[in-house]
Amino acid sequence: MSTNDPPAARLTSEKTLFGTLPNGSKVDKYTFRNGRQMEVSIIPYGGIIQSILVPDRNGQVADVVLGFDTLEDYIQPHPYFGAIIGRYGNRIAQGRFTLNGKQYQIPINDGPNALHGGPEGFEKKLWQTTPIEDSDSVGVELSYLSPDGEMGFPGNLTATVRYTVHPENELRIQYSAVTDQETIVNLTNHTYFNLAGAGSGTVLDSVALINADRFTPINQLLIPTGELLEVKGTPLDFTTPTAIGTRIRVDYPQLKYAEEKEGGYDFNWILNHPGDLQALATRVTDPSSGRTIEMYTTEPGVQFYSGNFLNGTLKGKQGLTYAHWGGFCFEAQHYPDSVNHPHFPPTELAPGEKYSQTTIFKFA
Ligand code: GLA
Repeated sequence: MSTNDPPAARLTSEKTLFGTLPNGSKVDKYTFRNGRQMEVSIIPYGGIIQSILVPDRNGQVADVVLGFDTLEDYIQPHPYFGAIIGRYGNRIAQGRFTLNGKQYQIPINDGPNALHGGPEGFEKKLWQTTPIEDSDSVGVELSYLSPDGEMGFPGNLTATVRYTVHPENELRIQYSAVTDQETIVNLTNHTYFNLAGAGSGTVLDSVALINADRFTPINQLLIPTGELLEVKGTPLDFTTPTAIGTRIRVDYPQLKYAEEKEGGYDFNWILNHPGDLQALATRVTDPSSGRTIEMYTTEPGVQFYSGNFLNGTLKGKQGLTYAHWGGFCFEAQHYPDSVNHPHFPPTELAPGEKYSQTTIFKFA
């Protein structure tokens, strides 16, 4: 070992009481540290990533994810801060789909559509926990049995999400699910990042790269039209690093569908290397702090959402408020409303099959 080698990482975990649900269930907070200034806290209510601390270029640590200090705040309506989304990420048109000739109806919760699995999605469930500790990671495995018919979805679905923290400043999320009846599933995580620090203002100066040549355009109700469009020549072209704010206000109708007044990003990009966990999916750098996040995923798509619905009223951690465009989400997933577009990668899951997804967030 040369003197230049970084000290061996010491992975540690800690469990503290975070709060108590109205039904009396205790909710712990699990905090994982990698000995290299990265610290991640997870709460099993909603499977929520409650905080991620990472250093900037000078070793200054900040919490880079939006969220709350108390369980009470997470029980109130909020825009899915840090949560696991299920059973079905993003929108299902009119909450309706057909499987094996049978029609299903998910309760609508976003205009005429069902969003993120309906009004009582996985973000409101208390997940079972099992600690994970091995030579190169520390974390927690969460599991939840969604009973047949919950939010209108067929089949008893057992979902598992493993969060692990690694020495390379990496947070890994491994999802799996099995069912006892044919069903549909599309899981993701809805963390909002602000690399300058949560509550420090907008993310417009953050420079984003999305390794995707195409996206799925939407109609006014944010439902995919079914087309697959080239990003080239549009404000959705992030194939070369571009500040999020550079084109967010330009007069491009799709940007106004995502956010009527000022414009915003809320689209599914079609990743250039679906299924390839080695291929970079997205990267964002905050020039002020030098913090960078990279995402790698096995999923075919990513919803890049620029926090358009945040409006500065919601009070988050340490009493800070979250500005319009105050955080960005990269939701690795199958395309929205896939179940109603037979030419999109399928989201059906049959008994005997296993849904699986791995997504990595790596900080530098
Ligand atoms: C996703 C959706 C957005 C919005 C947010 C949560 O990103 O695509 O339209 O609903 O979740 O507010």
